[in-house]
Amino acid sequence: EKLFAPSGPLLGRHVLVTSGPTHEPIDPVRYIANRSSGKQGHAIARAAAEAGARVTLVSGPVDLPDPPGVTTIRVESARDMLRAVEEALPADIGVFAAAVADWRVANAGGQKIKKDAGALPELRLAENPDILATVARRGENRPPLVVGFAAETEHVIEHARRKLAKKGCDLIVANDVSSGTGVMGGDSNTVHLVSAAGVETWPTLSKNEVARRLVAHMAEIMAEMVK
Ligand code: CTP
Ligand code: CA
Repeated sequence: EKLFAPSGPLLGRHVLVTSGPTHEPIDPVRYIANRSSGKQGHAIARAAAEAGARVTLVSGPVDLPDPPGVTTIRVESARDMLRAVEEALPADIGVFAAAVADWRVANAGGQKIKKDAGALPELRLAENPDILATVARRGENRPPLVVGFAAETEHVIEHARRKLAKKGCDLIVANDVSSGTGVMGGDSNTVHLVSAAGVETWPTLSKNEVARRLVAHMAEIMAEMVK
């Protein structure tokens, strides 16, 4: 295996990857979350390690093994994920593939809510920190290359362009998660790379192949930067 061989286009680089969903507790036994298998993020972490990088993977709750050769930090909530990401910086490349829950329950209870209490529970929501935007907009310790994801159900390119600007990242990997390609939890993905340079659409590929190509693409961008 080439996994731990000291070579590859990302040798000497630190790559930080977020993956999976986050779980936001309602009470000790219930949570709200996004749909996410973590397959794409984990594949990117693995591919970056195979390309010679030192890799830190910050993962929400997933049913996947920790990728070989990768330092994996498991977290539950968005706020835990942000904390772990901040602790892992600095990095040369940040890849934010996690499907972070946009909201958490502000009045989460310390005890299980009983449904026989009568009235329906009133859940108040609070907005979670935007991990990608927080890192992309950092003055100090901003990774030179920040990559975000956008899972969209319509107007994929348009929404991705808007996200690129709104978040302050260098590249958005956008995919269509409406029925058909890129089905959540599946093993293949059809992605569009959206950056200041324009839009590049890849054919439908396995998530492992998307990961390998994305890592190669990021290595090229890094090589260009030092020129
Ligand atoms: N992201 C993040 N922290 C959040 C929300 C999103 O780091 N609290 C990151 C995701 O990991 C992804 C990118 O931001 O790389 C886009 O996530 P997405 O959910 O598509 O964007 P939002 O800005 O949350 O917009 P919306 O859900 O309304 O489409
Ligand atoms: Ca979101």
